[in-house]
Amino acid sequence: MSKEQHQLKASNPIGIFDSGIGGLTVASAITKLLPNEKLVYFGDTAHLPYGDKSADSIKYYGIRISQFLLEHQCKLIVIACNTASAQAFETIKDFVGNKAIVVNVIDPVVNEVAGMASSKHVGVIATKGTVKSDIYAKKLKTAKKGLEVSSLATPLLVSMIEEGFFNNKISRAVIHSYLDRPKLKKIDSLILACTHFPLIKPEIEEYYKHKMNIVDSAGVVAQEVAQVLKTNKLQNKLKNPRHQFFVSDYTDSFEKSTHYFFKGKIKLEKADIWK
Ligand code: DGL
Repeated sequence: MSKEQHQLKASNPIGIFDSGIGGLTVASAITKLLPNEKLVYFGDTAHLPYGDKSADSIKYYGIRISQFLLEHQCKLIVIACNTASAQAFETIKDFVGNKAIVVNVIDPVVNEVAGMASSKHVGVIATKGTVKSDIYAKKLKTAKKGLEVSSLATPLLVSMIEEGFFNNKISRAVIHSYLDRPKLKKIDSLILACTHFPLIKPEIEEYYKHKMNIVDSAGVVAQEVAQVLKTNKLQNKLKNPRHQFFVSDYTDSFEKSTHYFFKGKIKLEKADIWK
């Protein structure tokens, strides 16, 4: 059965999930580009960080969260997490079937970078899970022959960002110690292959004295979502949509970050889907 046969409704929301606040960078870009779409966000804070978990665990979380988003009638699900996109995209797509469209955050970035004439040696910073999957190197090299890819796991960055440590001395020291690694010395472009990292993009730009081509997923994924909705005639026309934000475990940092992105207009709800 095709998506059309299942009759996805334009008036239904877009579901988005991540392990925590990282996916909010994507959610925020989507609301800016598509102000008439309603979002249902799920931050799986009970299992954060995803980067250190096994692929089997990530698949299990992805299926259960997708089920939750389907129960909220989502017409499209954005896996706003590189780790889950790397390890569970196919599993989630199989599970969701024709009940919703599933978008990952890796393919739009790969297409963007492969299309840049200047990219010859691309650096990728990501969680351990994403780096271990080697998905960026495989996809980038398929999309653009001869491209060199150097990937570095930067596991401390996610916890640092979740704890609200950015734009200060500590975050700068951690970021510098990762970016100083010999592996990244010869790159001409850098992919922020974790949806948490746009929050430290200004510090990364500063490290490179604004001379590095830095690509993150927020903007390009929002563009991809817009395109997919248009192609499938699923664009919503809602005036002032009321987004919903769920977490599997309540955390102060999540509450603060949602307000940082969505200016206090939101109510945070706890959805204990793991009981
Ligand atoms: N924001 C996620 C990513 O893009 C997950 C980070 C984590 O929970 O380790 O990979």
